[in-house]
Amino acid sequence: MVCPAGFTRQTDSVNQPGSPESFQMSPVEEAIRRRRTSLVVDHDRPVEPDVVNALLASAVWAPNHKRTWPWRFTVLTGEARARLGESFAEVGRALGMDPQKVASQATKYLRSPTVVLVWVTGDPDPVRRREDRDATAAAVQNLLLAATGRGLASFWATISDDFHAPARRLAGVGDDHDFVALVYLGYPIGDVPAPERPEPQVTWLD
Ligand SMILES: Cc1cc2nc3c(=O)[nH]c(=O)nc-3n(C[C@H](O)[C@H](O)[C@H](O)COP(=O)(O)O)c2cc1C
Repeated sequence: MVCPAGFTRQTDSVNQPGSPESFQMSPVEEAIRRRRTSLVVDHDRPVEPDVVNALLASAVWAPNHKRTWPWRFTVLTGEARARLGESFAEVGRALGMDPQKVASQATKYLRSPTVVLVWVTGDPDPVRRREDRDATAAAVQNLLLAATGRGLASFWATISDDFHAPARRLAGVGDDHDFVALVYLGYPIGDVPAPERPEPQVTWLD
């Protein structure tokens, strides 16, 4: 098999899931594999604001076309998490959603001490808009990996389209901002198993 650039073939290293052969993994590759979607976190241990700021400072090192720096972040802690959930519950009630789902919305965001909303400034040009969203997704992954590197648990979640407007209102961002991700952050108090990864579907052409 061809050894891709940047990989050193090792005969005595440990086989890792997703690697058809044994390769020595770099620290970045190890962090990529160690990251798990997890809400098994200590509710009583806040994530220090300096740590959150450090994670967001790493997030913005994502590539972005035309250097648009399109991402925006809203950090919710304390009561703000409850206000987010209550604003969603209110919309849910008005839309006649299942009362159980409405009730769970009200408390959902208390499941981790810190919640980060990630937005992208929506460019009127459809190509730029798509690229900016791609870049912002890369920024979210940077955020998750930076969190992993600092021993934090993270969880990338989405919200119903019906909740974009109340989330914008609470965050104070304009209608020109598209919602990209809701990220839970907290200090882990347990592990979650890694879902098995299918082999990458790759075609090599010479
Ligand atoms: C765009 C996006 C949205 C997601 N939204 C949710 C979500 O709403 N609820 C959820 O349980 N997981 C959500 N996830 C996390 C996936 O469930 C998770 O990544 C997947 O199960 C693989 O597990 P792992 O992240 O631990 O490797 C989302 C992931 C992405 C990339």
